[in-house]
Amino acid sequence: MKLKEKFIIYYLSATFVILLFVGIAVLNSIKNLSINTIEQQLIGQSNLAELYISQLHAIQNEGSNELSDETAKYVIGKLGLVFGNIRIYDNDLRLQAASKNNTESSITDMENAEILRAAAKGNYAYLVKDSTAFFASPITFEGNTIGILEIIYPMSFVERLMSGVLNILSIGAFIFAVLMILISIFIAARLTKPINRLAEVANNYANRIFTPLEIKGSDEISQLARSFNAMGAQLQDYIQRQKQFVSNVSHELRTPLTAIKGYSEFLAEEIGDRPDLKKAVFHLNNESERLAKLVDEVLTLSRIETGREEFHFDKLNFSDLVKDTIEKMMLRAQKYEIRLISDITSEVYVRGDEEKLVQVIVNLFDNAFKYSPPRSTVKVSLRKETTEAILMIIDQGIGIPEEDRLKVFDRFYRAENARSISETGLGLSIVKHIVDAHSGSIRLTERVEGGTTVILKLPLVD
Ligand SMILES: Nc1ncnc2c1ncn2[C@@H]1O[C@H](COP(=O)(O)OP(=O)(O)O)[C@@H](O)[C@H]1O
Ligand SMILES: [Mg+2]
Repeated sequence: MKLKEKFIIYYLSATFVILLFVGIAVLNSIKNLSINTIEQQLIGQSNLAELYISQLHAIQNEGSNELSDETAKYVIGKLGLVFGNIRIYDNDLRLQAASKNNTESSITDMENAEILRAAAKGNYAYLVKDSTAFFASPITFEGNTIGILEIIYPMSFVERLMSGVLNILSIGAFIFAVLMILISIFIAARLTKPINRLAEVANNYANRIFTPLEIKGSDEISQLARSFNAMGAQLQDYIQRQKQFVSNVSHELRTPLTAIKGYSEFLAEEIGDRPDLKKAVFHLNNESERLAKLVDEVLTLSRIETGREEFHFDKLNFSDLVKDTIEKMMLRAQKYEIRLISDITSEVYVRGDEEKLVQVIVNLFDNAFKYSPPRSTVKVSLRKETTEAILMIIDQGIGIPEEDRLKVFDRFYRAENARSISETGLGLSIVKHIVDAHSGSIRLTERVEGGTTVILKLPLVD
């Protein structure tokens, strides 16, 4: 999963948890608040009722410590109209009177008895069951409890309130969640952008492109970017010094090599008829020539890599250039017993350095011959596509293993199957640099029948 997606998921989970807690807290406090309000209201009502009942009692049951059944019924008849469902019990918790059809309550005697007993001791008590509140309060007269008043209050309105609040909360939570998604996407994009850039630059470093990062701010990522830049600079410096070293060594090798070659040629002439010595000098000559070629290639490569090699770009007839080069390569093809077939479209023009392009083609032919068996065929074709000249060199040789097809452009890299032929492994690196300098491309593929196909593309000019 991408960092950005992870971030959004974390953010949303946190939002969900927060919303859940806030929702539960809001619902709870609204519920408590409304129950408190109802409680206050019921206390007020019961106080009022108590006042009325005690006055009636004073008038009707003079001197008695008990509320008479008649008074209780009378009170219920009057107060029931105002307060809804009420009941009056005597001190022994016996129902004396009840308003309307409420003689049988939905509440069992046991449950009810609890609050009635509490009221008998002189306290308010209530109980909420099946969305109905049962509120019991003592009726006192001159300091004595003369009965118990119970007010039965439907709580359905609290439920309606709660469901209303829940609706509003749900809509709010939904809007909040959508907003959070948008915000988290925005923040994730902002946070991951510099990280993505770092990854991109690290990738560039892997491909030896050392463009430093632009750095703003001083947070951890900026610090990392700074370290990155320092690392890139050091790598670049190291590579530069390594190239310089190779270049210097090659230069130093050139002079003694020329001397060795000179002396060995002199020796060859002077030996006369001694076959053992002749053979030794032949090898001396051969090896010094090989070494000289290697040194030349290393020098060329280091000049190109350090940008010291000069390119002279001109408009060129690429068709003619290829044809002439094929002409020059004929002798070598014969030496390797290779049949060379060409199919060249005329009048293909490119902008390029003639000498360098010849070097490219010579190198490619050289490989095609070297890595092919005798009496095989090498085909060359040049054609035009809309914006490109396409040169293909197809051989029937040993081919290049798939995993090596990019690596063979590296300096000194040689595929496993080519190790028996002693060579330097620098040709294709030089070729690649030259092709790059011409804004072209080069690719190696394999045909089903085996062998290698080199596809070289250069931009056309008209
Ligand atoms: N036409 C080809 N057929 C098979 N292998 C090739 C061919 N061209 C290049 N290669 C592989 O690519 C490697 C690098 O080529 P190059 O840089 O020209 O080095 P060299 O020719 O000195 O070995 C070769 O060693 C060989 O393994
Ligand atoms: Mg080569």
